[in-house]
Amino acid sequence: MRNTIALLLSLLLTACNVGSQSHVRHRIGISQCSEDIWRDWQNAELKIEANFHKGVELHFASALDDSQRQIQQIDSLVASGIDLLIVAPNQLKSVSPAIDRAYDQGIPVIVFERKTDSQKYTAFVSADNYEMGRQMGQYVATRLGGKGSVMEILGLRGSSPAADRHKGFQDAISLYPDIRVAISLQGDWTEETAYQAVRNYKGNLSGIDFVFGHNDRTAIGARRAFLNRGVPLPMFCGIDGLPGPDGGIRQVRDSLLTASYIYPTRGDQLLQLALDILEGRPYNKETHLTSALVTSDNANVLLLESDEVMRQAQKLEQLGKITHTYLHQLTVQRTITVLACSLIGLLLVAIVLLYLYHRGRVAIRRERVVNNLWNMDATAIPENAPGSQPASDPSQSLFIARFREAVESQLSDSNAGVDELAACMNLSRVQLYRRVKNITGQSPVEMLRTARLNRGYQLLLTTDCSVSEIAYQVGFTSPSYFSKCFKDEYGIVPGDVRKA
Ligand code: FRU
Repeated sequence: MRNTIALLLSLLLTACNVGSQSHVRHRIGISQCSEDIWRDWQNAELKIEANFHKGVELHFASALDDSQRQIQQIDSLVASGIDLLIVAPNQLKSVSPAIDRAYDQGIPVIVFERKTDSQKYTAFVSADNYEMGRQMGQYVATRLGGKGSVMEILGLRGSSPAADRHKGFQDAISLYPDIRVAISLQGDWTEETAYQAVRNYKGNLSGIDFVFGHNDRTAIGARRAFLNRGVPLPMFCGIDGLPGPDGGIRQVRDSLLTASYIYPTRGDQLLQLALDILEGRPYNKETHLTSALVTSDNANVLLLESDEVMRQAQKLEQLGKITHTYLHQLTVQRTITVLACSLIGLLLVAIVLLYLYHRGRVAIRRERVVNNLWNMDATAIPENAPGSQPASDPSQSLFIARFREAVESQLSDSNAGVDELAACMNLSRVQLYRRVKNITGQSPVEMLRTARLNRGYQLLLTTDCSVSEIAYQVGFTSPSYFSKCFKDEYGIVPGDVRKA
């Protein structure tokens, strides 16, 4: 019974948990090197995509352009038990050992957008930074008509996109002998550093025709510094071409930048790749994302398109919220239903068990009556009867046989009591009491009463006599008192014996 209840309770608890918590199947760690508008877009895309898949949990960490911090963050993501690591290494070399450690522990690693100098990764995803730098160089050269003076503001030293963009840009410019990179300043991808670098530049800025920032934020920072120094504004271009109010596309459309290059974020694609790896589907080890130049020719269209996409995304998000609320309500309803069903089930089982228990007791009592103690010999007297002694003694068997006869003879006489029984056995009242109590653990009167009830039970089973007739036959003076004693002894009223 207790086991059954425990089982039912555990079923109930399981039922309560249904839908309350979706089971986490994949824990994905995302180690971002920086925190900026580009990363914000990508993180949002990752989160949106994760919402389309059940049981995906994302753990974000941002190193804020600090490689040592990123190393620690990767180690603790790994220690926290992630199933896969997505990482944009701040710098090519310094972060690699932490990535290698993760990989060596058997954790799949997706390196994206910035490279490591190790081969220990599961997949790599990026647009071609060299090609972007090269095309930007070609664009600048064309806009300058093959002649002019250029400023380049580099991305963070030691990070792979900075190196690749620089190389590509140089390769393109070097094809134009009348274009020279007159000023090269070290940046770190942030607008502020670029602003300071240009503002504090000691040389002459007025001869510069074009500024190439390795990203849009850098180009915008440089532009602010040119304005601040009050020199004629050159043209500016950068890389990232983000949508949205602060993105490069709008800056091109608004002529703050002459050009930008879309550096795709594609958080959705990253997450899909992660799930392909985790769920054993085929995937490409190297993925090259396509990108495109943004100029005043296409900025307007791109902006309209991206604004539209954002509007749809907002609608989708609202729809998602509505659906979420609806699903939540559904889950609550389902849980209540399951709970109610389980409780009803529990009650039913309890009723059935009680019924079976009751039936069992009746059957046992019935059996006790059928093989009643008046058919037993002395050895059948329960050994654990209070005060009883084992009846191994033949004289005891004889005594019981005689006592049984005495009881039988007095059974139907309602006036018979311990005096009559003692007289039948030629014993004093006290002697009879001691002997019977000693052997059976019961007093003679109790034995007489039990014998009457047992006989009554037998008569109920074997004759058609009414309950009243039987009550009188077994020495009760009132049928209702017989029924009461019967109920006390067997847990049922005499009429139930007949029904059973
Ligand atoms: C974002 C960012 C971009 C740049 C890229 C280079 O953190 O700085 O602006 O294009 O990283 O990795």
